[in-house]
Amino acid sequence: MSTSRFARTLVTAALPYANGPLHIGHLAGAYLPADVYCRYRRLLGEDLLFIGGSDEHGVPIMLRARTEGVDPQEVVDRYHAQLRDAFVAFGMSYDYYGRTSSARHRETSQALFSELHAKQAFVQKTESQLYDAEAKMFLADRFVRGTCPTCGYTDAYGDQCEKCGRSLSPAELVDPRSAITDQTPVMKETTHWYLPLGKQQPALESWLATHPEWKSNVRGQVQSWLKEGLSDRAMTRDLTWGVPVPPIEGADVEGKVLYVWFDAPIGYISATREWAEQQGDPDRWQAYWRGEDTRLVHFIGKDNIVFHCLIFPAMLQALGGYVLPENVPANEFLNLQGEKLSTSRDWAVWAHEFLERYPADYLRYSLLRTLPETKDSDFTWQDMQAHVNNELADTLGNFVNRSLTFALRYFDGQLPALVDPSAADREILESLGEYPQKVGEHIANYRFREALSTAMNLARAGNKYFNDAEPWATRKTDMVRCGNTIHVALQISASLSVLFEPFLPFSAEKLREQLQLSGLRSSARAGEGGPLGWADAGRPLLEAGHRLGEPAVLFVKVPDEAVAEELARLQAKAEAASQAAAELPYQPLNETIVFDDFQKLDLRVGVVKVAERVKKSKKLLRCEVDLGFEQRQILAGVAEHLAPEDLIGKQVVVVANLAPRKMLGLQSEGMLLMAEDRQGRLRPITTDSEPGATVR
Ligand code: 2FM
Ligand code: ZN
Repeated sequence: MSTSRFARTLVTAALPYANGPLHIGHLAGAYLPADVYCRYRRLLGEDLLFIGGSDEHGVPIMLRARTEGVDPQEVVDRYHAQLRDAFVAFGMSYDYYGRTSSARHRETSQALFSELHAKQAFVQKTESQLYDAEAKMFLADRFVRGTCPTCGYTDAYGDQCEKCGRSLSPAELVDPRSAITDQTPVMKETTHWYLPLGKQQPALESWLATHPEWKSNVRGQVQSWLKEGLSDRAMTRDLTWGVPVPPIEGADVEGKVLYVWFDAPIGYISATREWAEQQGDPDRWQAYWRGEDTRLVHFIGKDNIVFHCLIFPAMLQALGGYVLPENVPANEFLNLQGEKLSTSRDWAVWAHEFLERYPADYLRYSLLRTLPETKDSDFTWQDMQAHVNNELADTLGNFVNRSLTFALRYFDGQLPALVDPSAADREILESLGEYPQKVGEHIANYRFREALSTAMNLARAGNKYFNDAEPWATRKTDMVRCGNTIHVALQISASLSVLFEPFLPFSAEKLREQLQLSGLRSSARAGEGGPLGWADAGRPLLEAGHRLGEPAVLFVKVPDEAVAEELARLQAKAEAASQAAAELPYQPLNETIVFDDFQKLDLRVGVVKVAERVKKSKKLLRCEVDLGFEQRQILAGVAEHLAPEDLIGKQVVVVANLAPRKMLGLQSEGMLLMAEDRQGRLRPITTDSEPGATVR
């Protein structure tokens, strides 16, 4: 075994906002990989701590509470319980699941803020910010909407324009309006504490340079942030919900709270402290966070990369003496039936609903088969059925079931002895030795799909071996040979019950019960539980004469009707959401203009010759549009609504005299006209006139 410089591993999985349930995108992005990783390392017998929790602050939670007319605490209490229960049902083996509204969290994040302040890690700035005089509050982040200065989208948020993807600060919005009262805000001075990320950039860069092995999707995003240059980020807000800013000498911190992305990652630390207290060893958290020999791994979805790879590490560096992440293996996005998951359109498979109808291992298996490890991937109910029926039921389940059934029927439910084994018997038994190493290496390197398919190869090899050995025939001619086959098949089954523990913990446990195999370290913490560990999957685990348990079907097939039902349910929910949206008010008319105002616009017909996604941008498509008399490059903020194929070859309407501007380093010369419906969906305006034709 290779020696590692790490004495212990600390794994965190992103803290989900407690304002909605979990869907398959969350599970595939961060949670399932984290759990597989932790279960594997525990089986290795390593000291491992797995921390999670609910993120209970931030403006979206406040807005939800406002809409419901309840206190934010009520919202987070409800969703915290729901998230925690869904994680348990899904088999997440957290050692501790905390929440950021806890007293320990408040104290920890305040203490770290004060420590950073004492170390002069913040820059204090007093600036004018948007203020809603009627609601008597400053309008941070999503509390304010207005027109995006870059693309002209009229409903951009104070922290981001959802149309062109630009990250904004509230003061940059044109015609801002309060999301609370719809009033035009006034400017009012306020003081905040900023983390000068620019100053820390060299230190961050040197640290990141030591991690060339990180996934390329993660490194790519980080590099593009660094290339743009990091700027100061405010770590405080004027809000009524959040961790209050601790007293600062000479400053008035009344009504100020910590920025949610300041306190949320500290939630990992405070949850570790709570865990240590629960263990009766309150200082134990320090080894995990301050021991140089800790391997810290953050599992997150791709929208959290900047916070875990730059901002939180910058905070930890400024504090000094904390470990920085050894890896941040973020996944890409998961789609559903070929379309982007959407909470508002109810285009999602919700974890708690899935688990009401199917076993958790079906979801775990199917998601692991399609994890968006290097690029976006697609979950479909049809694939899920195929994964369960062809692989879980017909390959893994069938193999172990027929092995056990044979032993029960013809060998009195005991493991037959291995007597004078054939070459085939010996060969497959010897091959067991490779599996822990091969599967484990994939897991350790965050290649979960590979790991799973390697483990499944053993079940495939087992089936082939069984078919070739034909125990149903040898049973009548040569009971010793038949016994050897069943002996070997059950040893393989025992190995599978260990190898599949990280992936399918519920089924692996059931299988061990059927095999009467106990003593696995399993989900117990290192040093606790039984002595059987990961490497033991590489050798025969059962003794001749061992009494086996009752065989039972591990995986019931998913019938076609169930798939049809799920697809119908999905459509019906999406339609209901769209009906509800159809009752949305129409966008009010803009103020009247005169003909001359309209005349200023030069609208032309153009053919889209090229359309492609812009790297590292969720929103932008780069188009080349032929206007007849010239070809233009135009960036359209439509990638979340349209695929490049939806535009290529179309004759569209272009605002041809719009001043050119740069986005993500690319020049955009004009704008494609789009119709936007009440649900915010975009479709191009097309015409069959000729390229270059004027539109009036
Ligand atoms: O994106 C999210 O859902 C955030 N609540 C994740 C926070 S992760 C951590 F920093 F707490
Ligand atoms: Zn914009």
